[in-house]
Amino acid sequence: MRALTTTNDGTVEFAEVPEPTCTSSELLVRVTASTISRGDLHAARLSPPGTPMGLDVAGVVVEAAADGSGPSVGTRVMGYAARAGGWAEKAAVDSSLLVPVPKALSDDLAAALPNSGLAALAGLEASGFLLGSRVLVTGATGGVGRLAVQLAHLSGAEVTGLVSSPERREQLAGFDWLTAVTADEAQGPFDLIVDLVGGEVLSRALSWVAEGGVVASLAQTASETASVPLFWFAMHKGARLVSVYNSEGQREAGRGVRRLGLLGRLAETKRIDPQITRTTSWEEAPGLLAALGRRELEGRTVVRVS
Ligand SMILES: NC(=O)c1ccc[n+]([C@@H]2O[C@H](COP(=O)([O-])OP(=O)(O)OC[C@H]3O[C@@H](n4cnc5c(N)ncnc54)[C@H](OP(=O)(O)O)[C@@H]3O)[C@@H](O)[C@H]2O)c1
Repeated sequence: MRALTTTNDGTVEFAEVPEPTCTSSELLVRVTASTISRGDLHAARLSPPGTPMGLDVAGVVVEAAADGSGPSVGTRVMGYAARAGGWAEKAAVDSSLLVPVPKALSDDLAAALPNSGLAALAGLEASGFLLGSRVLVTGATGGVGRLAVQLAHLSGAEVTGLVSSPERREQLAGFDWLTAVTADEAQGPFDLIVDLVGGEVLSRALSWVAEGGVVASLAQTASETASVPLFWFAMHKGARLVSVYNSEGQREAGRGVRRLGLLGRLAETKRIDPQITRTTSWEEAPGLLAALGRRELEGRTVVRVS
């Protein structure tokens, strides 16, 4: 089958590869749409040459899971391809991270939800109760950030989005309930900081956390390393700095399936919008991945695979 795979210089190229072999809990999906995200950019740089890329999957089940879990053949589905492969004609996706797509949701919208939505929910969950909480999301103009601010707002939080420059504020203008700030303007205190940037931004954000608050670190988007001041824990009584991964713990009690189902319903009823800024053929993916690395893409890019 045709797939986009890694090269030895951090880029991707089309290659003929064997169809993935499913484990007993994986289903084979004929892919119709996927996304280009920063996770793909990291993976392209870190994976050995020849590795299929693509974390998000929307498509149709062509082979059911051997253990009987998950949707049946012919079901339109969306999922998170934990071992990648969304940029391929067929992808293996675990039944714990795959759900039927709600009728009114297009494949494009469905593809834009799994990776970013699961990450946003995992970050917001780090502090538990959100009603009335003061939440800061860094990297708020990115694909994960835009979903995180909307989900925090839906949960009753007071939401602030950190943008990289005053000009970038414009990208969040549609969210009239959101306060958009640059790092020079942010003050806090925030009960929860969902950090999607890392580096210098995370180092600065640490000083804005409230007593007993949580800083959920999900990313190293920025290239530099973050530093934690020696007395940070003493200066912010009861505060916690936690590392969060979107694929962690999703098998437990059907959590992944419930979360994906929730994201699908919220998007179908237009209570969240993954804000697709570009939909294009996967032929464009190599160039668009490079553009993402140069910070030239905003919001979420969807690629149509077939
Ligand atoms: N832990 C997990 O499970 C998990 C899951 C999914 C994603 N992630 C990570 O989460 C991060 C965000 O993902 P995404 O898909 O939303 O990426 P994205 O769409 O590229 O968004 C990145 C955001 O970070 C900002 N940014 C980039 N470099 C920056 C810098 N040096 N200083 C300040 N701001 C900067 C961007 O602002 P500009 O528009 O100004 O460039 C943008 O708002 C990525 O690092 C990704 O790998 C983690």
